[in-house]
Amino acid sequence: MAIVVTTPTGQVGSRVVRLLLQAGVRPRVLVRDPARLDGATRARADVRRGDLTDAGFVREAVAGARTVLWVDPTPHTVEDPVEVSLRTATPLVEAARAGEVDRVVLLSSVGAEKRHGVGHIDALGGIEERLDATGAHVLHLRCAYFFTNLLLDLEGLSKGVLTTAFDPDHAMPWVDPRDIGDVAAARLLADGWQGRIVQAVHGPEDLTFHQVARILSEALDRTIQLNAVSADAVRDTLREAGLPPSAVDGIVGMTTGSRDLVPEQPRDLLTTTPTPLAGWAHARLRPLLEE
Ligand SMILES: NC(=O)c1ccc[n+]([C@@H]2O[C@H](COP(=O)([O-])OP(=O)(O)OC[C@H]3O[C@@H](n4cnc5c(N)ncnc54)[C@H](OP(=O)(O)O)[C@@H]3O)[C@@H](O)[C@H]2O)c1
Repeated sequence: MAIVVTTPTGQVGSRVVRLLLQAGVRPRVLVRDPARLDGATRARADVRRGDLTDAGFVREAVAGARTVLWVDPTPHTVEDPVEVSLRTATPLVEAARAGEVDRVVLLSSVGAEKRHGVGHIDALGGIEERLDATGAHVLHLRCAYFFTNLLLDLEGLSKGVLTTAFDPDHAMPWVDPRDIGDVAAARLLADGWQGRIVQAVHGPEDLTFHQVARILSEALDRTIQLNAVSADAVRDTLREAGLPPSAVDGIVGMTTGSRDLVPEQPRDLLTTTPTPLAGWAHARLRPLLEE
């Protein structure tokens, strides 16, 4: 029975695929454009070409799977992102309900426990609930804020400015997506777990944005000033960029809904992953800013 991996070209999915190959597994990978996989991976994986928004493709591609890693592929910028994410996951939910899939590992998010009021993350809460109701074994990996979100404003960082609408004094978990891939791969390879499980992936430590600015200043060897902005300012910028109102709500809601959030899962041995922000920033961010 196959282990199925969605978004094998993504940050998390690509790490998962590499680890599965190294474990001697031939994963079934669902990919829009196989040319985006390197040749060695293509040769070793069962490559199924298709779009995750194509319900017929997904239903057929997940059938008979031992375990599916589901990563919601919906960009934050689409019209009605929550609705699109829920619709995209529907064929997987139906396959699980029909007993065509044994286990699902969902890449979820810290904040999904709120179910509503966290913008696009509401969709992950909805997918969790729909999968929980199928009777399949399901594991929700509620992931922290990705280090790689910092790459979305390289221009600002190159000018020495870190802009955020989060409360700059509120500590929250930050994680390297590669470490999420490690946890996901371990769970995909293990088949002793049962029922409905929530496991958080919290990274090495909780950080405030003030602390992040200090860590980046040191790792990048340049002063990074924090620029705390209001949610309304972000809203105006996104509107001016031409995003549909529902997408603006989805993006701003992720920040406003998480402002004071204390994750439902406490940090512990199982949720803590190793890569520190300082090391990641030095290895990944610094070369990009020096380019
Ligand atoms: N950023 C955060 O702080 C955070 C926190 C918690 C959870 N998450 C979750 O993490 C997930 C993103 O994971 P990631 O960062 O590993 O992804 P990523 O690197 O942003 O890559 C996106 C992936 O989705 C694929 N994709 C996009 N649209 C697709 C479609 N219509 N059909 C098939 N594939 C499609 C892309 O494939 P192509 O190569 O074809 O483009 C790519 O593999 C999201 O579901 C998000 O909710 C994020």
